[in-house]
Amino acid sequence: MKALVLSGGQGTRLRPMTLGRSKQLIPVANRPVLHYVLQNIADAGIKETIVVIGEDGRQIRDYVGNGARWGLAVTYVQQRKPLGLAHAVLTAREKLGEASFLMYLGDNLLPNGIAQYLRVFQEKRPDALVLVHPVTNPQSFGIAKLVDSRVVEVLEKPTDPPSNLALIGVYFFSPKIHESIARITPSARGELEITDAIQDLLSRGGQVEAERVCGPWHDTGQANDLLAANKTMLLKLEHKIEGHIDPCSTISGPVQISAGTVVVNSRICGPAIIGEDCALYNSFIGPFTAVQKGTRLIDTAVCDSIILAGCRLENVPLLNHSILGENTELTTSPRSQPGWQLLTADHTRLSVPV
Ligand code: DAU
Repeated sequence: MKALVLSGGQGTRLRPMTLGRSKQLIPVANRPVLHYVLQNIADAGIKETIVVIGEDGRQIRDYVGNGARWGLAVTYVQQRKPLGLAHAVLTAREKLGEASFLMYLGDNLLPNGIAQYLRVFQEKRPDALVLVHPVTNPQSFGIAKLVDSRVVEVLEKPTDPPSNLALIGVYFFSPKIHESIARITPSARGELEITDAIQDLLSRGGQVEAERVCGPWHDTGQANDLLAANKTMLLKLEHKIEGHIDPCSTISGPVQISAGTVVVNSRICGPAIIGEDCALYNSFIGPFTAVQKGTRLIDTAVCDSIILAGCRLENVPLLNHSILGENTELTTSPRSQPGWQLLTADHTRLSVPV
């Protein structure tokens, strides 16, 4: 069994953040989504992992390396353009050989792991096993129609969905999928769709099974989804204080504060995580906030947000439901209005005069 992790794509729905950063590397609870993907693969007992990267895959390579950090043996294939999920499989065809494989979209988060579904695939030995989860917006996903646990039809982002069960970004395939990929043509949006390949497999009498995902799942393709994923991961947080908290500060709820961080005259209500070497002065951190290393908050309040490394926020009355790129600087006057909501690229600078 091999794993194929798809980390190409352009992340257009997360611009401007993704202009300078692969979306799979945006952190939730201070770790890139891709970290959790690789951890789940390792926890399921798979070692050989092929990572599909796009034209600018350097950041992914720098972060993942040879995979030893997760106990994986990682190699890479470069997809010249994001021409679809099935095209990504085609790109990795040689490395996949005749093995069965797990295909895992690098922007999908499954906090409860995937080992249980791998076991089902290995026990039942279908031609494919897909994971499904009910959604309220089936037009935005690949959708499966089931009879019991058997898939009878799949459609990519249908206008008239036959069910509300979305295909999530984890698929188990026997090598039979390669024959189907060879038979399909690009969809109306110009992509070789894995959904079309699965439909082809079905039309050739292939057995495709579905498992319903137990617990949360997040496709982190958009800002709201990333913030929801951040929330889910922060709810699992264990309380751990390594930094310095002065006596005028209060901490409540599960909070992690890393070494080298100082908290002065501030209030932190968890669940929240604050990385290394941060400084908080006269500030408030509310629930579901993740702050990466080297960030300074002065006279500032932040809730339900993801703040990447090296940011500086001064006099920000209330930043809520926001994602700030690395080294973002927000400075305002003490009299400006609360309730800011932002998605910034790395190195954004915003200063608001009265
Ligand atoms: O998240 C589940 C959904 O993922 C499924 O319900 C859909 O059937 C499936 O098509 C996919 O839809 P998305 O629109 O969310 O796919 P996206 O373009 O965001 O790509 C998913 C991941 O695959 C992402 O990490 C980027 C990577 N990718 C994507 C394409 C199109 C590649 O590596 N190469 C590609 O060519």
